[in-house]
Amino acid sequence: MNVGFEKVEKGLENIAIKETCLSNIDGEKGKLYYVGYSIEELAEYSSYEEVCFLLLNGRLPTRNELEKFSAMLVSDRSLPRQVVDALRTLPRTAPLMSWLKTGVDLLSLYDQDAEKTDDESRMRTATRLISKVATLTAAAYRLARGLEPVEPSPELSHAGNFLYMVKGSSPSPLEEKIMDVAFILHAEHELPASTTAALVVASTLSDLYSAVSAGIGALKGPLHGGANERALEMLQTIGSPDKADEYVANELAAKRRIMGFGHRVYRSFDPRARIFKRYLEQLSERTGDKTLLQIAEAVENAMMNRMGGRNIFPNIDLYSGPVFHLLGLGKEIFTPFFAAARTVGWIAHVLEYWRDNRLIRPRAVYVGPEPRSYIPLDRR
Ligand code: SDX
Repeated sequence: MNVGFEKVEKGLENIAIKETCLSNIDGEKGKLYYVGYSIEELAEYSSYEEVCFLLLNGRLPTRNELEKFSAMLVSDRSLPRQVVDALRTLPRTAPLMSWLKTGVDLLSLYDQDAEKTDDESRMRTATRLISKVATLTAAAYRLARGLEPVEPSPELSHAGNFLYMVKGSSPSPLEEKIMDVAFILHAEHELPASTTAALVVASTLSDLYSAVSAGIGALKGPLHGGANERALEMLQTIGSPDKADEYVANELAAKRRIMGFGHRVYRSFDPRARIFKRYLEQLSERTGDKTLLQIAEAVENAMMNRMGGRNIFPNIDLYSGPVFHLLGLGKEIFTPFFAAARTVGWIAHVLEYWRDNRLIRPRAVYVGPEPRSYIPLDRR
């Protein structure tokens, strides 16, 4: 029954479906590069606005280009009133990722360029999505808590404005820097399930909003998004560093996974986790609250002792959760934030794929019954 293919590559493990210039992950060495620039240098010296320009244009901007691009993002921050009114009708207990998916689909109805296919319109839609998904995330978070959304500020950076819209107050320089680094670290990561979902939708020549909505749907799943919420809950459950080893031993014995560890590609320390850990150390110093850091380090040591030999190392989610917590963000916004930051990565891969589009249509190996005749109902 097979027609020239027998093997199923479960989960498309180690299967490449496109070429890319956007990011390069060295899983063995634990290195990540965006268009050739290391994530360490981008986190240290760049900004989310500059990284978005880099991912959309394949090069770092000149000062003039960065100013124009940043101004475009600022002008795109506000949400159509009809979208905010619709968000007010959503059930507050529904998952925030479902609010986000709904909000993105609503936004598409108010973007007159949403269905256009020329490069200029697609780039306009891209900046609208990058800006508005961040505003949507903050508005959904506040409305679900019974609070009024905060209007975007045109004075603040993308990251600073995000914190301002979420918390209703301007961030300190350290908080703004850490939020900007968090946006950079979450911006792009080759082809995780969410980016692949966006590509599948885009390969049919559907629109950017539908591709981003598909990415959000995929990221909502606990094997991809949400691990940082559960990692923070784990650290809070453990409660003190001296209880970490026993907790890890019990979880592993019960064949349960430790959140914030392991990765399909990294077979060493996720470089993003290292960067987040450094900022957690700074925030812990600043707030005087070192408990979460010490528990996370104790869990890390316990896992290294037990699983390091099996290449199970900390990933981005082990340290991002405690950082967001110390920034005063509620757990329910952690994954919607991830979606807001990754919107540029989803879009950049779609635009790159559209330059040499091929409908994504895999096959299945048929293992069902041989051809047979229909049996009339009264003879079954
Ligand atoms: C993200 O792809 C990306 O790039 C994603 C991401 C991005 O930026 O887009 O990096 C973001 O999703 C980070 C990952 C966040 N998720 C978690 O932290 C959840 C916990 N981690 C795992 O569920 C797991 O590590 C995955 C899903 C991340 C990767 O799983 P794989 O590659 O499918 O590995 P696997 O399930 O085949 O596990 C191999 C073995 C298994 O043991 P055996 O069944 O063979 O005995 O390793 C074990 C697993 O049980 N294992 C773990 C573990 N992760 C894997 N054991 C304990 N704790 C873990 N966290």
